Amino acid sequence: MQSMKNLQTDYIDLYYLHRVNEHVSFEEIAAAMGRLIKEGVVRAWGMSQVDVNILAKAHAVTSVAAVQNLYSMLERDCEKDIFPYCLEHNIGVVPFSPIASGFLSGKIKADTQFEAVDDVRKFVPQLSRENIIANQPVLDILAEYSAKKHATNAQISLAWMLHKYPNVVPIPGSKNQERILENLGAADVELTDEEFRALEAALDACTIHGHRGIMETEQSAFGNKWKRTDK
Ligand SMILES: NC(=O)c1ccc[n+]([C@@H]2O[C@H](COP(=O)([O-])OP(=O)(O)OC[C@H]3O[C@@H](n4cnc5c(N)ncnc54)[C@H](OP(=O)(O)O)[C@@H]3O)[C@@H](O)[C@H]2O)c1
Repeated sequence: MQSMKNLQTDYIDLYYLHRVNEHVSFEEIAAAMGRLIKEGVVRAWGMSQVDVNILAKAHAVTSVAAVQNLYSMLERDCEKDIFPYCLEHNIGVVPFSPIASGFLSGKIKADTQFEAVDDVRKFVPQLSRENIIANQPVLDILAEYSAKKHATNAQISLAWMLHKYPNVVPIPGSKNQERILENLGAADVELTDEEFRALEAALDACTIHGHRGIMETEQSAFGNKWKRTDK
C-alpha cells in the first residue's frame, strides 16, 4: 500500500513476485494474487527467475501474465521449457539481462574494469577476463550482422529474440539516454527468416563460457528474510 501511495496510483498494472519464498506455497501466493486481481488492486501478476514446474503450479491457481527470467544469446536455458510453456499458455516472457550485462554490445573488453561500488558486473563470472576472451566468437557473429544490417551489436542481439518469439519483451538496462534510444531502435531492425536461421545456426555452433551468476537467485537467503510469522 505504501508503494502505491509513493507511485500515486490506486492499482498496479503488473505485480511481480520476484523470487520464490520457500516458506510459503506457490499455490497460496497465487491464490492471494487472485484475490488482489479480483479486488482491482492488481491488474495482472508475474513471476521472476521461476522454473516451469513452479510456474505451472502457480498458473493453475491464478493465470500468470508474465515471466521475467534471465535470457540472452549467452543464456538460453529458457528455450527448453519456459518459452514453450509460455507460448502454449499465452504468457509473456520478459528477459532480463538480454544483452548479457552489456557484453553483447561488444563494448566490454577483456581489460574493462567495473569500478562503481554498485556495479554488480564485477561479480558476473561471464565478464571475467578469460570468459570475455573465450566468448569472442559470439561477438564476431554479431559484428557480421550489425555491419550487414546497419545496426549495433546490442540491437542485433535484441532483434534476434524479437524475431524468434512473438511473446518476448526484453528489458535491457541502461543509465545512459543514448543507449536507451539505441536499444529501443532494435524494434526497427528486421531480420529476414533466412538471416535469422543463419544467425541461429551460427549461435548454436558456439560454446558459451561462464554464466551470469546467481546473485539474485539465492532463494534461501531471500526466504529467510521473509519467514512467515503467522504459523
Ligand atoms: N528479475 C530479475 O531477477 C532481474 C535481475 C537483474 C536485472 N533485472 C532487470 O533487467 C534489466 C536489465 O538487466 P541488466 O541491467 O542486468 O543487463 P543488460 O540489460 O543485459 O545490460 C545492462 C548493462 O549493459 C550496458 N548497456 C546497455 N545497453 C547498452 C548498449 N546499447 N551498448 C553498450 N552497453 C549497453 C549498461 O550500461 P550503461 O548503464 O552504462 O548503459 C548496463 O551496464 C534491469 O533494468 C533490471 O531491472 C531483473
